Amino acid sequence: MQTHEIRKRFLDHFVTAGHAEVPSASVILDDPNLLFVNAGMVQFVPYFLGQQKPPWDRATSVQKCIRTPDIDEVGITTRHNTFFQMAGNFSFGDYFKKGAIEFAWTLLTNPQDQGGYGFDPEKLWATVYLDDDEAITLWQEVAGLPLERIQRRGMADNYWSMGIPGPCGPSSEIYVDRGPEYGVDGGPEANEDRYIEIWNLVFMQNERGEGTGKSDFEILGPLPRQNIDTGMGVERVACLLQGVDNVYETDLMRPVIDLVAGIAPRGYGVGNHADDVRYRIIADHSRTAAIIIGDGVSPGNDGRGYVLRRLLRRVIRSAKLLGIDTPIVGDLMASVRDSMAPSYPELATDFDRINRIAVAEETAFNRTLASGSRLFDDAANATKASGASVLSGTDAFTLHDTYGFPIELTLEMAAETGLTVDEEGFRGLMAEQRQRAKADAAARKHAHADLSAYRELVDAGPTEFTGFDELTSEATILGIFVDGKRVPVVAHDAGISAERVELVLDRTPLYAESGGQIADVGAITGTGSSGAARAAVTDVQKIAKTLFVHRVTVESGEFVEGDTVVAAVDPTWRHGATQGHSGTHMVHAALRQVLGPNAVQAGSLNRPGYLRFDFNWQGALSDAQREQIEVVTNEAVQADYAVNTMYTKLEKAKAMGAMALFGEAYPEDVRLVEIGGPFSLELCGGTHVHNSAQIGPVTLLGESSVGSGVRRVEAYVGLDSFKYLAKERALLAGLASSLKVPSDEVPARVANLVERLRVAEKELDRSRLANARAAAANAAAGAELVGRVRVVAQRMAGGVSAGDLRSLVGDVKGKLGSEPGVVALVADPVEGSDAVPYVVAVNPAAQDLGFSANDLVKVLGATLHGRGGGKADLAQGSGSGAAHVDAALSALLAEIAKG
Ligand code: SER
Repeated sequence: MQTHEIRKRFLDHFVTAGHAEVPSASVILDDPNLLFVNAGMVQFVPYFLGQQKPPWDRATSVQKCIRTPDIDEVGITTRHNTFFQMAGNFSFGDYFKKGAIEFAWTLLTNPQDQGGYGFDPEKLWATVYLDDDEAITLWQEVAGLPLERIQRRGMADNYWSMGIPGPCGPSSEIYVDRGPEYGVDGGPEANEDRYIEIWNLVFMQNERGEGTGKSDFEILGPLPRQNIDTGMGVERVACLLQGVDNVYETDLMRPVIDLVAGIAPRGYGVGNHADDVRYRIIADHSRTAAIIIGDGVSPGNDGRGYVLRRLLRRVIRSAKLLGIDTPIVGDLMASVRDSMAPSYPELATDFDRINRIAVAEETAFNRTLASGSRLFDDAANATKASGASVLSGTDAFTLHDTYGFPIELTLEMAAETGLTVDEEGFRGLMAEQRQRAKADAAARKHAHADLSAYRELVDAGPTEFTGFDELTSEATILGIFVDGKRVPVVAHDAGISAERVELVLDRTPLYAESGGQIADVGAITGTGSSGAARAAVTDVQKIAKTLFVHRVTVESGEFVEGDTVVAAVDPTWRHGATQGHSGTHMVHAALRQVLGPNAVQAGSLNRPGYLRFDFNWQGALSDAQREQIEVVTNEAVQADYAVNTMYTKLEKAKAMGAMALFGEAYPEDVRLVEIGGPFSLELCGGTHVHNSAQIGPVTLLGESSVGSGVRRVEAYVGLDSFKYLAKERALLAGLASSLKVPSDEVPARVANLVERLRVAEKELDRSRLANARAAAANAAAGAELVGRVRVVAQRMAGGVSAGDLRSLVGDVKGKLGSEPGVVALVADPVEGSDAVPYVVAVNPAAQDLGFSANDLVKVLGATLHGRGGGKADLAQGSGSGAAHVDAALSALLAEIAKG
């Protein structure tokens, strides 16, 4: 049975039983706890928690799910996918355990010619939560399952929860026995390769609280109603019904394997397990990558972008390890589209974008592959030169961390050059890095967990934002927090230091940081029972996207919960903030006008007077492009376009061509900001000027890279832009006055000065060398006899370079004649440096006596803490410390005296 048919039968089964068919949500939902949607129930959480009233009592869906914790298992086991489709049925306070078991059982066991999947009931097993006797009885009564095929398991396996806080409940899982050829018997408890889990029925009845992991958390109490959440793994059912060995060989994934097998020098399923795993990784990961990009993610270095990057790099690496040298990602994306678009049309309609992003990542990785390979060659050569045969863990880690080299690639390359790799060292460094990442994640989670104190206010409803229309609003204090703990009152004289107090109001004109715009500053004042009170607002942040929390310093009086207060934005600040934000839209529009639609926004930040804007782009912008962006921006500002805002439906806004940030989840009703009709149209919740001319001049400061394929422009706007230009002008005027020329002649004057300086320095070098030669000639005349050798051991003043030293040593040696002779010259450091270069020459007669320049230079090096070497006739080196030069020369004489 084809996968599309499995999906269809599932939905039909439940629609016939009165369920509303709900489309899959995006894999990115607006939940800080969740990187990707990983279960069908995620989009229904507010219904389970009773926060929103569901439009139906029963629903069914097939949800796109991403799960990456087991990424290393992909291809190795028969059943792990990073992307899979979860078919589910949901009851919101309607049917409960009995209904869930009955529905699942009939679909699984009904014969195929009657719309079911036709599983042999004798092969099915169930697990239940430890004390769930009710589920055991129902499995026996409703499904006729014998007791020996029902197993009790603990919280880690049979208790589902989502979010902190979030819904939870005991679950019951259904397994299919694949037969003795897949392992020992004994049910799922004994062997999850032979007994494959296909369906999880969750009896969602409680709310979970704080705690970690799958089993260590507090259960806060019952939910308002008893619910059902089930999830059936479509790929696993397909694997079983299609009689293939593993999920990667099912009808929707196999085409990728076949495609790759047509290109790779080594085939699939020909007895090479490592190769087979690579094929399956490519099939699994390329599909996941297409889906994630389809929902708006671009490759990056953290969060979702990093997951995507890792998946794509594993694909590319696996292809390389299969011996494929040509680009392959474009073909893979097309294959995924062909298999998956019937269920997920966005893969076809958005194919160009998906393909472009995926292929760009391949190109980028192939580039780092090249520079990484150079680093590898250097490291391998250095390892061999030092006589070792093990590439260090640090090198392997740098290759992994900086160049994206998977360790397997490094291992293989090392083997080709006859080296091994210190894998233990590498894994140690990886573990350290993971530890750091974990600590980081824990810290973040903790910060989030603390938000529970605000929960009651979040539940009470969103803060009303009045700041689009007024800068001062009357409001009521709904909550006061000190260090994150709720208190009834806070007073100036309570000795609470700044920044620890937060006020939550029912309405506020103060903008909370979001959409790249930083928070407003302002004040909250009250005339409560105890007299005038004032708090300066230093920051405003949103909790759960809806509750505005003002961070304040109480400057006088006291604030009591329930007080009426006046919240006011600092008008000068707000004026600057609107210039910054509108300026950002103008730069964005100009960028796309100049660079085209591929310059997609990747992030932005604006505050009064300043903005920065990140966008996807390969390579630096040319000067001409930068200039043009600045010109287009300022011309549009100057055109004095009206700024219009309006609310509309998301779909309509997108149809109008409004620009939105990929990866951002937008609500159904969105706000549109339009500047100059078609010039700029963006989804945006920020505060803006009324007419574009109010932005004032926009000056681009520069353009830089902020990661692979992402560029950043920065700009000053308004008065800050003017101040910046005025400073530049003053700088130029200062230069002109020191150079005593008019401003426009400064460049020519500087060029002229630089050239004259170059000529003068050259002249200086020449005369320095002439002096040195004269000194050397004197030295030759004054050579002293040490034992049987005529020796010149001399310190050279005046910053003689190592190259000049070499030629001087030759001169002096020539002057010594054919008697045994040794020349050693040490140069004083040049100004600003401590380096002392030295050269030793030994003529043939002295070499016959057993002297070698290579040995003697080491004697100098010993005193000067330097290194050096060469041959018997000439050697050189460099040390440090002018103070030790005389001692070094004495040591040399003593060495020669020994004979
Ligand atoms: N939420 C449960 C799961 O993902 C059942 O849908 O397994």
